[in-house]
Amino acid sequence: SENMLWGGRFTGGLDPLMIQYNESIHFDKRLYKQDILGSIAFARSNCKAGIITQDEFEKLEAGLKEVEEEWASGAFNIIPGVDEDIHTANERRLGEIIGKDVAGKLHTGRSRNEQVVTDMRMWLRDELRKLDEYLVSFLTVTAARAEKEIDYVMPGYTHLQRAQPIRWSHWLLSYGFAFQDDLNRLRQVIRRVNRNALGCGALAGNPFGIDRDSMMEELGFEGMMWNSMGAVGDRDFVTETLQWGAMLMQHISRWAEDLILYSTAEFGFVRLADAYSTGSSLMPQKKNPDSLELLRGKSGRAFGNMAGFMMVQKGLPSTYNKDLQESWEAMLDHVKTVGDSIQIAEGVLATLDTKPEKMKAALDPFMLATDVADYLVRKGVPFRETHHISGRCVALSEQTGIPMNELSYEQMKSIDERFEEDIAATFDYEKSVEMRSAKGGTSKKTVLEQIEVLRKML
Ligand code: ARG
Repeated sequence: SENMLWGGRFTGGLDPLMIQYNESIHFDKRLYKQDILGSIAFARSNCKAGIITQDEFEKLEAGLKEVEEEWASGAFNIIPGVDEDIHTANERRLGEIIGKDVAGKLHTGRSRNEQVVTDMRMWLRDELRKLDEYLVSFLTVTAARAEKEIDYVMPGYTHLQRAQPIRWSHWLLSYGFAFQDDLNRLRQVIRRVNRNALGCGALAGNPFGIDRDSMMEELGFEGMMWNSMGAVGDRDFVTETLQWGAMLMQHISRWAEDLILYSTAEFGFVRLADAYSTGSSLMPQKKNPDSLELLRGKSGRAFGNMAGFMMVQKGLPSTYNKDLQESWEAMLDHVKTVGDSIQIAEGVLATLDTKPEKMKAALDPFMLATDVADYLVRKGVPFRETHHISGRCVALSEQTGIPMNELSYEQMKSIDERFEEDIAATFDYEKSVEMRSAKGGTSKKTVLEQIEVLRKML
């Protein structure tokens, strides 16, 4: 235990399973770079505060850069049982390179409690900025597709029953706006992630007059953690990321589910590119939408990350407790899962084959029953009455087996004499869609407006 950085008061060795159970090096080593950057900023500030000399700072900085290079080249040798986490590993190696006399001064006034969140916040901020880019790219494809395929009319569903005709683009944009909100939320989350906790000590603050503002600036943080106790015990920046991603994945899973349905032979509206499908080992004809199913499935995993880590934090006492180490794997997995999922969704959409003739063929005249009711509304009949009248037309069509749009003018007239010859013009899907021209509706003009609104944010 004399090898361990905290070994001073310990006499016996750690239980071997406890060593493994306790260590985080196998996942936090990925943040070696952030850890080094944080240490350099900390040393620089300690130099400015007169705690270490300029010469000592330069030695520390050079040594830390050498450690960084070892990680980058794969030369860093993790010592099992000694290198508990990335912070201890880097400091141990620094001591070997520049000597313990100077290396031993690096951690003056510093605690791993502030170090760990500094590393995580820097890493997460950079990763979330990548996710921002992925989302923008996905939404750009969504908008482009919606514009190009604006003339495709298909059934819109409620309760998975044919409801009213809509534009395919209207469907695309219904999710587009949910993802736009996700993007908005992400940008707010990044602001709260990107705050400086360095200089907070173990919990009570730094006793050597360290300049936290200059560290904040050097490390690219946009805000300050204003309370040292809060700063070391806070993992809200992780939780919030998990919550954000869970909701985004919920949107992705619904989007994917619609496309899975639309890609079946029964619907046939879309066909997935080979690049995003797989075959069956048994049935030669199969082309399965595995990409979409994984998007749907991984939303469960994302939700699990969120719920799991919220559970970890419930009831924890103030400041740092080792429970918080559990934030790591949830965070790492989430960023990977969500980032990959957005990119897969974009790939699926960019390469998707659409079948407008199939969409059209799935329209049926009953989907215009509302338009029939609206026709009479325009003749001054109260809607509650017209709804009933149109319902009787539906019933007559069902009884006689004559499609609603093929009922004769006399048949319609026999149901309600306010029907006139121009009722025939109501049985037009294109017209039905174009009638929905109030903001947010499925008419061409209002769908183009949606595309414009969406694009403005990107
Ligand atoms: N590996 C630890 C974590 O991820 C670093 C902080 C350790 N601090 C401590 N007081 N043991 O949470």
